[in-house]
Amino acid sequence: MTSPDSIILHRPLDMHLHLRDGDMLRLVAPHSAATLAGAVIMPNLVPPVTSVEMLAAYRDRILAAAGPDAATFQPLMTLFFQHYTEAQLAAAQPQLFAVKLYPHGVTTNSESGIHSIDAAEPTLKLMEEMGIPLLVHGETTGFVLDREAEFLSIYERLAARFPRLRIVMEHITTAAAVALLDRHENLHATVTGHHLVITLDDVAGGLLQPHLFCKPIAKRPEDRAALLAAALAAHPKLMLGSDSAPHPQHAKECCGCAAGVYTAPLLLPRMAQLFAEHGALDNLQAFVSDNAIRIHGLTPPDKAITLVRQPWTVPAVYQDSTGLKVIPWEAGHELAWRIAP
Ligand code: DOR
Ligand code: ZN
Repeated sequence: MTSPDSIILHRPLDMHLHLRDGDMLRLVAPHSAATLAGAVIMPNLVPPVTSVEMLAAYRDRILAAAGPDAATFQPLMTLFFQHYTEAQLAAAQPQLFAVKLYPHGVTTNSESGIHSIDAAEPTLKLMEEMGIPLLVHGETTGFVLDREAEFLSIYERLAARFPRLRIVMEHITTAAAVALLDRHENLHATVTGHHLVITLDDVAGGLLQPHLFCKPIAKRPEDRAALLAAALAAHPKLMLGSDSAPHPQHAKECCGCAAGVYTAPLLLPRMAQLFAEHGALDNLQAFVSDNAIRIHGLTPPDKAITLVRQPWTVPAVYQDSTGLKVIPWEAGHELAWRIAP
């Protein structure tokens, strides 16, 4: 049910989430599990998740960390792309949602990413035949503002060469990437909440804002406008994927700030506020769930979350008893929407 002051979201999903491991996993997993019916879990741990054994053990640790909401939170597990045999993929497939491809060195923990797309083709062929989706961090190592644009021709090549491979362009940040969605049937995309709201100006236009620094970096106003228009219209090939990427406060507020914005605790309230501001609340359900369920044929647990138009102040910090501290997006700011108490 949607009214100007409340909305019930059914089976909300985060199609791109970093949960980490150890103390960080225990701190952040409950924030996503509390409000989501499922999330696609990124495999860029150290070392990365590259076997069915690692994947199953990580899933168990996630569910153990998720707290009281674990029963209604479905972790959709991914393997870190490397060369896999058919036997390896077949062994993983019952527990596997997708394989995530990182080019070498483009972001956090991508040191074991691939050096050559051509060399990746045998595994991509297997994935196409087996119906395993490919998720891609689509950036080159070129000039920072052009990295996604430079990767778009690689997406087009992959889409044409593997027409039955379901490809997701992860966390798109440019108008050109939005346009690509309508050119290739097998290309889909996720977009983060923060890339719908910020531009490079918010990151570096005044005093440097480390908590808004992420990869891909936020781009120009016209890019944000194209992303936002597609999201608000519930473009059928676009899904919410937060790319919530927690780092300890000391790794963000330092010389050599780590890339990643921690958005999980405020993801749904912030999206409700954004869609309400633009009179598009009726399309939020498709953006946060229905599109992903249809594109991937998902069966998440039946979980409904009520959001209401009531002020809520984002905590200044999330911390645990070990001294670990994480600063969320919009820390200390008042939002206009909240999860119903
Ligand atoms: O900003 C980012 N942080 N982008 C990524 O692609 C990875 C992520 C992380 O793992 O911290
Ligand atoms: Zn990510």
